Amino acid sequence: MSTSIQRYTARERSNHWVVAIAFILAALSGLALFHPAFFFLTQLFGGGPWTRILHPFIGAVMALFFIAMAARFWKLNRITPADRQWMARIKDVLCNRDQGLPELGKYNGGQKYLFWIMVLCMLLLLASGIVIWQPWFAPYFPIWLLRVAVVLHALAAWILILGIVVHVYAAIWVRGTIRAMTRGTVSEAWAKHHHRAWYREMTGK
Ligand code: HEM
Repeated sequence: MSTSIQRYTARERSNHWVVAIAFILAALSGLALFHPAFFFLTQLFGGGPWTRILHPFIGAVMALFFIAMAARFWKLNRITPADRQWMARIKDVLCNRDQGLPELGKYNGGQKYLFWIMVLCMLLLLASGIVIWQPWFAPYFPIWLLRVAVVLHALAAWILILGIVVHVYAAIWVRGTIRAMTRGTVSEAWAKHHHRAWYREMTGK
């Protein structure tokens, strides 16, 4: 049996799960408002008017908690030459041909690029969401800006939804990853295999 290494504190995990739950609620209520095909989802939020009222508040909670989480993980997601090398050899990664792959720190290149996509989408969603938030802020902006904001809001939301599908799929696909965000720990074997430089840093081995 391999021993465990701490990957996330309880505070980091709570922060992540608030963002994840708020994301699911924001996505469901947002899709309900986006197209009539998804209108049935308003039933989850107490009907059309309530969905419309709640959606921006849920979005604001998600964005604020995401900003707190991103600030924590900011430095760890800086792209390094090893990440570029790893990304260039993504075929070997997917086929489990690990020989000669660069040693990685806490996150791999895929996680890091996705992190920056999340940051960009979240900032865009927050800024455009404030501009179109009736009746609080929207009256202060010109109509052309509201029109641009509504398109950007939908675009950023779709990119983020696709990004999170990839994020969740990758978390399930790489066995032993989910427990990092549930229990806070990973096995030594997992760390050694996927993030060897981080493993060395944590264990001194
Ligand atoms: C909805 C279900 C979700 C699941 C099952 C999930 C799962 C996970 C797991 C297992 C990790 C740890 C990965 C590792 O340490 O290598 C992680 C990290 C992370 N997750 Fe999620 N997640 C979900 C939703 C979200 C959402 C909605 C966001 C943001 C919009 C998000 C942002 C992050 C970030 C920023 C990290 C740290 C990785 C990094 O900084 O690159 N997650 N997630």
